[in-house]
Amino acid sequence: MRKILVLDTTLRDGEQVPGAKLNLHEKLTIAHQLRRLNVDILEAGFPSSSKGDFEAVKRIAGEFQDGPVITALARAVQSDIDAVYESIRQAQRPLIHIVLGTSNVHVEKKFNKSKEAILEMGVNAVRYAKSLLPDVQYSTEDASRSDFEYLWQTIEAVVKAGATMVNIPDTVGYAVPEEFGELISKINYRLKNVNDKVILSVHCHNDTGLATANTLIAVKYGADKIECTINGIGERAGNAALEEVAVGMKLRPEYYNAYTGITTKEIKATSKLVSNLMGLDVQVNKAVTGENAFAHSAGIHQDGLLKSRESYEIIRPEDVGVEEMELVLTARSGRHAFKAAAVQFIQENLADDEFEVLFAMFLELADAKKEIYIHDIYCLVNDYYTKKG
Ligand code: KIV
Ligand code: ZN
Repeated sequence: MRKILVLDTTLRDGEQVPGAKLNLHEKLTIAHQLRRLNVDILEAGFPSSSKGDFEAVKRIAGEFQDGPVITALARAVQSDIDAVYESIRQAQRPLIHIVLGTSNVHVEKKFNKSKEAILEMGVNAVRYAKSLLPDVQYSTEDASRSDFEYLWQTIEAVVKAGATMVNIPDTVGYAVPEEFGELISKINYRLKNVNDKVILSVHCHNDTGLATANTLIAVKYGADKIECTINGIGERAGNAALEEVAVGMKLRPEYYNAYTGITTKEIKATSKLVSNLMGLDVQVNKAVTGENAFAHSAGIHQDGLLKSRESYEIIRPEDVGVEEMELVLTARSGRHAFKAAAVQFIQENLADDEFEVLFAMFLELADAKKEIYIHDIYCLVNDYYTKKG
């Protein structure tokens, strides 16, 4: 089984979300939590974008003498690479990350240059970065919309210039799983013949809700490294959600023939921290980290769960740091589910007809309130005993 490296870019791609700006202290707090989550590589920012970002990356790099590799983003120009180098050089394991587009729209419209000129710019950037540090990642921005032979020509050239990681971004979330899997498989096959030590990485955006699927299929087809953010935050519809991809692999390791080093018990705490500090709510039904991800409300599901957790629970809440699964009761939950939830508050000698009174009170409350949580049941039972005297 292959270990897949996880790069977290919450502090770079994630922080680009409007209104989600963090101060230095908040960035450090998140960085420390990402270390507890055991990410392999932490992308700390984009140092040439502002003095504040430069300082934050430098501070994180200075504090992380063990733990994850520290990286930061540079465009393929010397001044950006210098800014990255200056900000991460203190880290024990620094990595320079260079990005330059390979799609026709990037080459012709964004840069108004020829493909040859862009290729030369990329190769020169890698050579320059290599003169500063041994580890360099090259991202072929908008790879999924690029002409394949030009994309491959770029990959081969930057690897020959010394890039140690090649990242294939689906920058605008254009890819579909089957096609993206084939692309990764083709690149993987050719890359092995050029230099089998080079790490093949993917970076997927979620514009059509496929970021997790595209990332996982890429793993199956040979990617060695994935790039993600916590809660899937990021540009527009966001990035692949780290928690979804990590749990996906943990659940079906034999399918992907892969695993990650993520400490999944830290997932919920990390999700809450990022959401609170960035002021970005997590969608209630969001996979793995949403408030309802482990709340079972349908009566037949609750009944099944009480008999065997496996009947409706494929992820154990405690494995991702959720204290306990929450049964949200409704009027349709049934006697069995109500009794299981109320038993902890009920006195031992409750007769069957007394339970029926309690259950009737529950149905009345459930009709009025629709959703009944554990604290409602506590109040209900208390109320019952107070009335009974
Ligand atoms: O989406 C993208 O292409 C990026 C690159 C910098 C990897 O964020
Ligand atoms: Zn991105």
